[in-house]
Formats: sequence, structure tokens, C-alpha cells
Amino acid sequence: MTSTRIRVIPNPTILGIESSCDETAAAVVEGGSRVLSSVVATQDDLHQRYAGVVPEIASRAHLERIVPVIREAMRAADLAYDDLDAIAVGHRPGLIGSLLVGTSAAKSLAWSRDLPLIGVDHLAAHLSACELDDDPIELPALGLVVSGGHTSLFYMGSPLDLTLIGRTIDDAIGEAFDKAATILGLGYPGGPAIDRLARTGDDHRHDFPVAALGRDRLDFSFSGLKTALLYAVRGTPQGRGRGATFPRDAGNLSDTEKADFAASFERAAVKALVVKIERGFDRHEVQTLVIGGGVSANTRLRRELSELAQRRGLTIRLPAPEYCVDNAAMIAGCAAGRFRAGEFDDLSLAAATSSAIR
Ligand code: KG4
Ligand code: ZN
Repeated sequence: MTSTRIRVIPNPTILGIESSCDETAAAVVEGGSRVLSSVVATQDDLHQRYAGVVPEIASRAHLERIVPVIREAMRAADLAYDDLDAIAVGHRPGLIGSLLVGTSAAKSLAWSRDLPLIGVDHLAAHLSACELDDDPIELPALGLVVSGGHTSLFYMGSPLDLTLIGRTIDDAIGEAFDKAATILGLGYPGGPAIDRLARTGDDHRHDFPVAALGRDRLDFSFSGLKTALLYAVRGTPQGRGRGATFPRDAGNLSDTEKADFAASFERAAVKALVVKIERGFDRHEVQTLVIGGGVSANTRLRRELSELAQRRGLTIRLPAPEYCVDNAAMIAGCAAGRFRAGEFDDLSLAAATSSAIR
């Protein structure tokens, strides 16, 4: 516990900081829901040529951007530091060098401005993003985080009580979208490109595998789907490992063929989620299905999971498009629950690569 000045009030104004991967973000949120400002500096341009996030480049870029991004969030909210009730930071899970930048900035601000500090789990924050500028989630709920680094299913008993009930055993779904886009020559990040292209394609042109992983499990797997797409586009490889060569590549495909691949891939990827969520509903009595993470921006996913919730007579909560991908409003919003419960951290708060939610 910190010895800093702590006033537990119902509608705290919190500055949130997020730097877990390749987005440098800061936001001010009042009462866990009212977004006063949300600033996101994306690094997509820096990582594009590598078709994925390079950790060293990401942490250096965070270092350059964190102070201007925080200043801009405070300016846009038209507040002074004295108007804040706490500083919150996404301190896990993520890339360690990236997390250290946000965590250090948050600790410095909390110490120098004599404000309470709240460490927030990035996955819990994704699941609270649907409450921004909206109503609280009706609980209990099933919560699904679908992002570039995670595909995890949670039972949500209360806002501060999450239990992990399923997770990917290999690639995250967003990673599979990004790799699929690379295979099809669509650039990085691939999720939005696949989403756009799939709308014009025939989703039954190819029958890609949907991993079931046995009848009991709520876990996910996306590496088989990615490999199936790779072989369908480029042919069966000659040789093994890094030395393998393929008979063709995406350059041989017409725009229609690419769209058919994108649509068929997306159908299988979303189906893999639907199957497990159905199974989760059979096992857990819940009111609501909550979705969060970058892939929750996907058009097909939003449609199919909304239809699933409707079939089951449940409410679905999806974040507004700007709060699907990494942002700091979800960090500040999520921290309000901890603030109201009087749960604060001290300056020993550490960045960590894994989530603490089990
Ligand atoms: O939540 P996020 O910003 O970062 C992590 O916490 O990982 O998610 C980024 C991921 C990327 O893999 C990106 O391709 C994917 O979200 N994504 C999408 C869409 N928009 C972003 N995937 C599918 N369809 C989209 N519209
Ligand atoms: Zn994320």
C-alpha cells in the first residue's frame, strides 16, 4: 500500500498509460466510463517492413513518444495534474522493454505529483473497453480477448474477479490474421486488410480446418489454419525448415482469388471462436458475452458473435471501434474498479510479461 494521499470517491478522474506492445497511449477517464481524452501514437509504420513487432524498436519508440503523448492527453482533457485522482498503467502482460517505459512513466508521475498508483492487467482492461462511454457490464459474463498476442476466454464473476477458462495453445488469432495477410501479400498489420478483402470474397471457396482440440477443452489453436492457408496459396514446400522452397506465391493470384482466400480463412478463424464460446455457454450460466482486443474490430466476428448471443438470449458487449485495439482509455476505465475497492499499488509495482489472471 502506498502512503500517498488517497481519497476514495465514487467517480475518480484517472490518467491511464498504455505501452505494452507497439502503441504508446495515454487517456483521461472519469468515473470508469466517461472518456475525457484518448491519445494513441501507433508504431505501425516502424514495424511494417518486418511484418511484425520488433521489441527493441518498439521500446525505443515508446521512450521517444511517452511524454508528448501524456501531455497531449492532459491538454485534450483540459485538466491539470492536480485535477487527477490517480495514475493507472497497464503493467502486464506484454513486451518487457515496452511495459517498462509506461510503468516507469506512471511511477514517476505518481511519485512527483503525490498521486495514488494503480497497476492494471492489459487483458482485464480489454474486457472493460466496452464500458467506455457506455453502461456497466451485466454479470456474470463470459469474456473473450482476441488480440495480436492473446486469445483467452474468461469467466467474469465480478469486475475484479476473472477466471481463465480457455486460451490458445499456439498462435493468437490476431497473429494468425497478420500472418495470413503476409502470405497473401497484403502488408502489416494484416487484420484490417483481411477484413476489408474478405467482404468481397467467396467464404466457401476453400474449406480450412477449425481446431476442436477434443470435446472437453475450451482452448484454441490457430497454427494449423495458418499452415493450411500457406500451403493452399504457395503449394507444398520442397525441403524442410528455413531452407524450404515453395512452387508459387501470392504474386500468382488474381484479386478475386486473394479475396476468396481471405474470406475462407476468416470464416474458419471465427468459427473456431464460435465453437468454443458455445461450449463455454453450455458450462457456465451467464448473462452477457463480452469481447475485447484488436480482432474484436473484425466485421465478421462482430456479426457472428452477435448472432450467437442472440440465439442464446444473451447480451453481447463489443467495444467501440477506437477502443478495440490497444488504447489507454481502457486502462484508466478498468482502474476505476480498483480505485473504488481501495486497491492501490506502491512504487514497487513491476512490469511483467505474463498475465496474473489464472
Ligand atoms: O489489441 P491489439 O491492438 O494488440 C494486442 O494486445 O495484441 O490487437 C492487435 C491485433 C493485430 O493482430 C491486428 O491485425 C488485429 O488486432 N486487428 C484485426 C482487425 N483490426 C485489428 N484483426 C481482424 N480484423 C480487424 N478488423
Ligand atoms: Zn491489447
